[in-house]
Amino acid sequence: MFKVVEWKKNTCVMIDQRLLPTKEVYNTYKDYKGVAKAIKDMVVRGAPAIGVAAAMGCAIGALDIKAKDFDEFSKKFAKVCDHLAGTRPTAVNLFWAIERMKGVAEANKGLTIAKLKQRLVKEAKDIHDDDIEINKKMGRNGAKLLKKDWTILTHCNAGALATAGYGTALGVIRAASEAGKNVKVFADETRPFLQGARLTAWELKEDNIPVTLITDNMAAHMMQKGMIDAVVVGTDRMASNGDVANKIGTYGVAILARYHKIPFYVAGPTSTIDMDMKDGSGIPIEERKTREVTHIGGKRMAPEGIDVLNPAFDVTPAKLVNAIITEKGVVTAPYKAGFKKLFAKK
Ligand code: MRU
Repeated sequence: MFKVVEWKKNTCVMIDQRLLPTKEVYNTYKDYKGVAKAIKDMVVRGAPAIGVAAAMGCAIGALDIKAKDFDEFSKKFAKVCDHLAGTRPTAVNLFWAIERMKGVAEANKGLTIAKLKQRLVKEAKDIHDDDIEINKKMGRNGAKLLKKDWTILTHCNAGALATAGYGTALGVIRAASEAGKNVKVFADETRPFLQGARLTAWELKEDNIPVTLITDNMAAHMMQKGMIDAVVVGTDRMASNGDVANKIGTYGVAILARYHKIPFYVAGPTSTIDMDMKDGSGIPIEERKTREVTHIGGKRMAPEGIDVLNPAFDVTPAKLVNAIITEKGVVTAPYKAGFKKLFAKK
């Protein structure tokens, strides 16, 4: 089984997701700037995986700091954290993981610098290991919503590759499959970066979960023909009112699902809930390079000099979401109250 992101001898090792599915290459990152570049360049992607990589970047950065006392360490560590936080704006897990690392540094300021560094390494490893456990719990919670023999549409890749392992939306599908529900998957190819075609199709096939690849513009037709029973997607950030940011195209899928009376489920850990965000309108949407739209596989498809927009995410309003699946339980509208109850749980 592939490893998405791993701590190895004070380095961070990541599978290069830009090369999948044709090549399985692992890159080793020895400094925090390398980890930051890997996040920005999509070597690692998917909200929880970005969070784990950022935590490991913080730990690597901390190990390299030379400081006489905590104040000096803290100033230098803040620079490391700021650099990692500047990589991708939408997935809140990135900021969540960095804040958790900063909090641990502050809470352990009484330790020697050498011990503090080891404490930060432990925290990064814990964030990695916890993520897998969280996804398994989320999977079990979500699997209850899926019926036997259902066909599920998913968009982008919210699988093992987007997390430390097991996946969020694909974790729900995996758990249903493990429970003997015989579920099948339709994977949207997910233009322009093709996370569905390259990553979701690959990891489900590796796992022997039946998967059929479709282009994004085929989903409506499949729904009209009664070939899809539910939609399950991941998320990069949920606002406190239940508005959900996810890969560009998700909003369109949610509208289609509502029109065809198909349940639309979102799976995400509680670390993806941003209670400071009133609604989805404030979620920063990353704009990526136009080349992702004009080129496919390195080959130009559009005329030179054409105007292009490339927002990487969109926001699905809460009213189109039938339920949000987390590791602490499944929430339905009104989401704000539901989220508050989740956070009150141990
Ligand atoms: O641009 P990406 O590939 O990082 O976008 C990923 C997604 O939109 C996923 O659906 C989301 O992060 C949920 S992953 C468990």
